[in-house]
Amino acid sequence: MTGGMTDNVILVGFMGAGKSSVGRILATRLGRCFVETDEMITAKEGRPIPEIFAEQGEARFRALEDEAVRLLALKRGDVIATGGGLPCRDGRLEALRAIGTVVWLSGDFATLYERALRGGDRPMLHGKTREQAEALYEARKSFYSRADLAVDTTTLNPDQVAARVAAALAERQRQAV
Ligand code: S3P
Repeated sequence: MTGGMTDNVILVGFMGAGKSSVGRILATRLGRCFVETDEMITAKEGRPIPEIFAEQGEARFRALEDEAVRLLALKRGDVIATGGGLPCRDGRLEALRAIGTVVWLSGDFATLYERALRGGDRPMLHGKTREQAEALYEARKSFYSRADLAVDTTTLNPDQVAARVAAALAERQRQAV
């Protein structure tokens, strides 16, 4: 994938990386549609994600993510924000790269963890100590790091991150022609 206008832009990263807020800003900037895998799942199931986790467990949620990834193959030119755990399975990152340019919104653990605790109900943090959450972050990094591009969000706000992503995509596009 080369980053052309029909290419999707897929944001991955740990909880608190800002995938949704950056994705929305980026989509507006690029004049693209914005899609969120968590939203696809919520809309299909008719209930919020914490409820899916509470009633049917993580395995059910991951199966719903599988289905969402299959549907993503139909998208063209969209900006797609993924759930934090979605790319963290063997072959998943590669499957995402086959349908677009994958951008890792990275950051140091302390910053992402603080943001994740501040905003929204995140079942993957329920009942976990800070050390356990950090272990999850460490385990996931090897998946995220297979992305096409990475932007460190640690000291940036969502507008700044979106600007960096747009610049990195434009540079990639220039190199491809
Ligand atoms: C998850 C992250 C959430 C959501 C679900 C599971 C995870 O999305 O998909 O609660 O496993 O990290 P965010 O990354 O947007 O918080």
